This record gives sequence, structure tokens and C-alpha cells, in this order.
Amino acid sequence: MTARATFTGWGKCVPPVKLTNADLEQLVDTDNDWIVERTGIRERGISHVETTDLAEVAALRALAAAGLEPADIDMLILATVTPEITCPSNACVLQERLGATNAAAFDLNAACSGWIYGTAAAASMIAGGVAERVLLVGAEKLHWVMDYWDRSTCILFGDGAGAAVLEPSQGGDGVLGTDLGADGAAGRTMVFPTLGTRGRLSSVRDPFVHRLHFDGRAVFKIAVQGIEKSVRRALDQAGLSLAEVDAVIPHQANERIIAAAGRRLGLDPDRVMLNIATHGNSAAASVPMAMCDALESGLVQPGAIVVQTAFGGGVTWGSTVARWGERTTPLGTSDAELPPCNDTVFDLLAANRDFYAPLHHREGAVR
Ligand SMILES: CC(C)(COP(=O)(O)OP(=O)(O)OC[C@H]1O[C@@H](n2cnc3c(N)ncnc32)[C@H](O)[C@@H]1OP(=O)(O)O)[C@@H](O)C(=O)NCCC(=O)NCCS
Repeated sequence: MTARATFTGWGKCVPPVKLTNADLEQLVDTDNDWIVERTGIRERGISHVETTDLAEVAALRALAAAGLEPADIDMLILATVTPEITCPSNACVLQERLGATNAAAFDLNAACSGWIYGTAAAASMIAGGVAERVLLVGAEKLHWVMDYWDRSTCILFGDGAGAAVLEPSQGGDGVLGTDLGADGAAGRTMVFPTLGTRGRLSSVRDPFVHRLHFDGRAVFKIAVQGIEKSVRRALDQAGLSLAEVDAVIPHQANERIIAAAGRRLGLDPDRVMLNIATHGNSAAASVPMAMCDALESGLVQPGAIVVQTAFGGGVTWGSTVARWGERTTPLGTSDAELPPCNDTVFDLLAANRDFYAPLHHREGAVR
């Protein structure tokens, strides 16, 4: 009999420094009402540490919640689109930090869908006997690629990390259905190429190449349609109907995208997890942070049917359907914390503003 993977531990790490809409009003030509009405976002985390630092705290909390030690893990998957290093992988950096000496480790890039791809990979490895205890982490330091002179992008994104432990289910709980997909042809709707070399040998980063380029309206449409279809396919695979779903944990990209997809699916908004107001879009970290909040808030109850769904750069999308186990509280807690930060949010964004300034202060500059 193949083992079904179930979530046994979860944890998140939210950076202590926030970028509020009022702060953004001081940086770009925008206002709080526009941002709240168009996106639902009020503030987002800005990390004073690196991607793997965020990942480490979330991972230690997830391990404690599962009642496990780092050495108990045999597979570590780190989903990120903002790796701090290419090789060794960020997963290997984290493996060393945690002392997860028995774990294989690799990074996974499916942009904002990274958590769903990671869950599918973890569940398949557990079902196939490749791994028994998987630590899955989604971590991002997205502000690093944000141009804080560009109001059309910089209001949306935030930093953070979420993690979970998946183990073989002992009962009827676990991942029941999965849908994954990609459309490389639509990939140009959201691009930030700097982390890949693309054949250019250069030690100098070009701010124009480095910044996030995206077509917000195109992504909006792709997302709404993509989420609806993907959730339906994952439910079909699980042999369940929408009426049987207790909680939906969507990627937090835009409150209007979530609401529109929810309407298409006929979902009661009370069943849909929303925490975008305080986190913004944190890409691969978005769904696991929302999952932690859904557990804390009581949206996910013992035995609940839980749908997780995301879409993102690539373009990629994916959904999982799981029956939650009997436990919705952590077995233990970790005292892991980020180092304190004495900088203001403007201090943290200063280097970034300087880096992109040339794009905005010359003739014909992008706006
Ligand atoms: C980016 C997004 C919020 C824009 O919302 P929208 O309703 O589509 O807004 P538009 O792009 O049509 O812009 C409307 C107007 O507001 C302006 N505007 C854009 N950003 C603004 C801001 N931060 N503050 C004030 N005005 C702004 C535009 O310039 C435009 O003005 P114009 O009509 O004079 O040209 C929305 O398209 C979105 O969320 N897309 C998905 C993006 C995403 O999440 N990507 C990651 C997916 S993983």
C-alpha cells in the first residue's frame, strides 16, 4: 500500500519590520485607499536578514510543531524565487544550519506556485518510498528585486517564510488530490531575470534587467481562470466536490483575484483564508504562512478538507486537496527568533532605492 503524506507540523517567520501603505505614500505616487481597494494590502514584511534566515526560523518552528528533531528529516525542499545563492542550493545551506544531516536537500523554483509544487513533490516522494519525513519550506526576500520607485509593482510584495513537515499518514488524512500546470508561453507576463545568467558574464548588475517586469492585468486574468480550473481538477482527482471543502488557502496575490476566483467556484468567503492585508504577496512563502494562520484562527479543524491553491511566474499554477489530521495544534514550540532589527523600513530600502534611481532620473526613464 502506498503511503499518503499528511501535514504534521507547521511554522512561519514574519519579518518584524513592516512597510505600510503610509510609508509607500512617501516613496511613490500612491495612496492607502487605492492600494486597499485594488489589492487588499495594508502592510508587508521587509526582511533585514537573508532568505535562509527566514527559512531557518520557520523550519525550526515547523519541526517543533511536529515533535521532531532536524536529524529526523530525510528530505528538505526549499521553494523560493529569491535564492540568496545559486550553488550550494539554499536548501543545502539550510540543511547545514539546522543540522538536518540525514536529509537530501534541493531548491525548487515554481515562483508563487512553489509551495504547491513542493507539496506535490513531497507527497509523491512519501508515496513512492523515496522519503519518509519531508521538511518543506517556502521562503522569500522579494523586496530585493523590487523597484521602490515603481508604484505598479512595489506595493504588492512582501518577505517571509512558512514551513511544514509531511509524514506518512496513519489514517484517512493526507493529500488526496493534486493538480499542477505551467504555460511557459505566458511566462513573459512576469519576469525578473537577474538571478539567472542568461549567457551574460557580468559582475555588474543592471537595474533595468534586475527589476521585476510584469503585466498586472494579464496576470490578474490568468490567475482568476487558472485558480478556478486547477481547484476543480484537484478536487476531481480527489473524488470530492466543492461542497465538501471546509477551507481554501489560496496564494495571497491580490484580494480581488481571490474573491473573483472564489465567486467562480461558488465558495462561501468564510471558507477562504485571507491574510494579504498584513503580508502582501510573498510568493512561495504566501500559502504556508496563510496555512499557519488558518490553523491558528480555527479555519482548519480536525478532519477538514483543505484546498491549497496558487499561481505565479512561469506561468505556473497548482492545487492540492488534503484531509487534515486530528491534530490542529502544535506538539511543541521552538524559541527560534530572528535577530532584532534597529533599522527603519526606509533604512532597509535605502540601498534598493539607490540601485534603481538611475532608471527614474534620466531622460526617457521608465515610470
Ligand atoms: C497590479 C494590480 C494591483 C493593478 O490593479 P488594476 O486594477 O489592474 O490597475 P491598473 O493596472 O488597471 O491601473 C489603473 C490605474 O491605476 C494606476 N496605478 C497603478 N498602480 C498604482 C498605485 N500603486 N497607486 C495609484 N495608482 C496606481 C495606473 O497607473 C492606472 O492609471 P491610468 O488609468 O491613469 O493609466 C492588479 O492588476 C494585480 O494585482 N495583478 C496581479 C499581479 C500579481 O499579483 N502578480 C503576482 C502574481 S503571483
